[in-house]
Amino acid sequence: MSYHQAEYDEPLLNQFKSGSTYRVDSGHDPADLGIPKEIVRGNLNLPDVAEYDVVRHFTRLSQMNFGVDVGFYPLGSCTMKFNPKFADQITSSHAFRDSHPLAPEEYVQGNLRVVYELQEYLKELSDMDFVSVQPLAGAHGEFSAILVARKYFEDTNQPERTEVVIPDSAHGTNPASAAMGGFRVVEIPSDSEGKVNLKALEAALSEKTAVFMITNPNTLGIFDDQIEKIAEMVHNVGAVLYYDGANFNAILGRTSPGLMGFDIVHFNLHKTFATPHGGGGPGAGPIAVKSKFRDYLPVPIVGLKDGKYFLDFSAKKSIGRVSGTIGSFGVLLRAWSYIRYHGADGLKENSSIAVLNTNYLKKKIEGKYEVPFYRLKKHEFVLSTSNTGRRAADVAKYVLDHGMHPPTVYFPMLVHESMMIEPTESVSRQDLDRYAGILMEALDESPEELKNRPVNTPVTRIDEVKAARDLKVRW
Ligand SMILES: Cc1ncc(COP(=O)(O)O)c(C=O)c1O
Repeated sequence: MSYHQAEYDEPLLNQFKSGSTYRVDSGHDPADLGIPKEIVRGNLNLPDVAEYDVVRHFTRLSQMNFGVDVGFYPLGSCTMKFNPKFADQITSSHAFRDSHPLAPEEYVQGNLRVVYELQEYLKELSDMDFVSVQPLAGAHGEFSAILVARKYFEDTNQPERTEVVIPDSAHGTNPASAAMGGFRVVEIPSDSEGKVNLKALEAALSEKTAVFMITNPNTLGIFDDQIEKIAEMVHNVGAVLYYDGANFNAILGRTSPGLMGFDIVHFNLHKTFATPHGGGGPGAGPIAVKSKFRDYLPVPIVGLKDGKYFLDFSAKKSIGRVSGTIGSFGVLLRAWSYIRYHGADGLKENSSIAVLNTNYLKKKIEGKYEVPFYRLKKHEFVLSTSNTGRRAADVAKYVLDHGMHPPTVYFPMLVHESMMIEPTESVSRQDLDRYAGILMEALDESPEELKNRPVNTPVTRIDEVKAARDLKVRW
């Protein structure tokens, strides 16, 4: 399939001069409506544009863009799976869409039931005891969980616990959340198999340790089979074992953070269930805890009493609200829909297919590209372009030219010239074969030729240094 992305010389909306058929003019004199003169705005300065021009404008912009509805998008760590349309349909039903986030409980029993049931599903899937769906993203879930741990240690009079230990394979949000929560971050190296280096962990753990944060499988797609030993070591020094559940899609229905011995968990609902990740949101990062942390959870939690759903603020030592309303209701509803649609067996199967797709793709390309930490992978894998004499960024630009999205590049940082690939469960074998083909064909171009890529996209090579140093976020 040859590919050339659409390119338009598209003006800004307020540069249009279509002469609207609809006017932003109520026809009322504000004085007749009792609005004081001093607060009446003279000019709203809204674009005066016809409906069809607005629709065409945004359609053209979308054609210059790339998304999950356009093609394969195996952006490792970001889980850009197909966004099921049934979940969108349910979410856009006016019964859900039009309900006010601050409506009285008795008017929104259906919404509260969805959240309550989702809490129950998440408890069951994770083998944890209590859930709060308040946090609005994965990183927000981590930060909320860190605050829960901090409050717990304050409450149990353990002020000496000032450190959070994190492996070097961790997602960057982990150390950021720990630092924002007021802790000192202690990083430990991975071992030669990409797992936690137990000797380094032992050396790092002490009576100062508050939390050990880890994702399993980790960002290399490797499941750390030492996890029970790790849980024992962390608990022996009285610290909290925290599960970054962003990679939960890899283990759904097979094992769980609770079974592995974790105390606090966050879920990236937008990665594991329906909504794709990326583009800055929206997301949802509920957290789940073992019973002893229940009283510190963000509130409200949705409760059920005498057949009525209600907002439960009873957590006595709660860290408080971490979002203005109940959470990202649209994402919660999509996750609920996805879970209901697939059922327990379906979720387990999806996770198996995601793992199978990863290993299939890895097998197809590993002769050409180096795959460090060679082990059976889970939901994603990381290759290095170092052995090919080409830069990961240049290979990524070649992929862009062929109508598919490149992998995540330069993360995780412990692999040189890394590309992180996550096919997810929602990809066909044909797409996997084509992707492997594109990655191999990239090597037919010399390193210099690759530097001219991409040529088939509206935006070609950008000056990366200038883009980072001289960022212009306004037009
Ligand atoms: C392993 C891991 N942890 C945490 C996060 C943070 O999640 P979010 O981007 O929703 O804040 C991500 C994001 O993809 C991740 O991959």
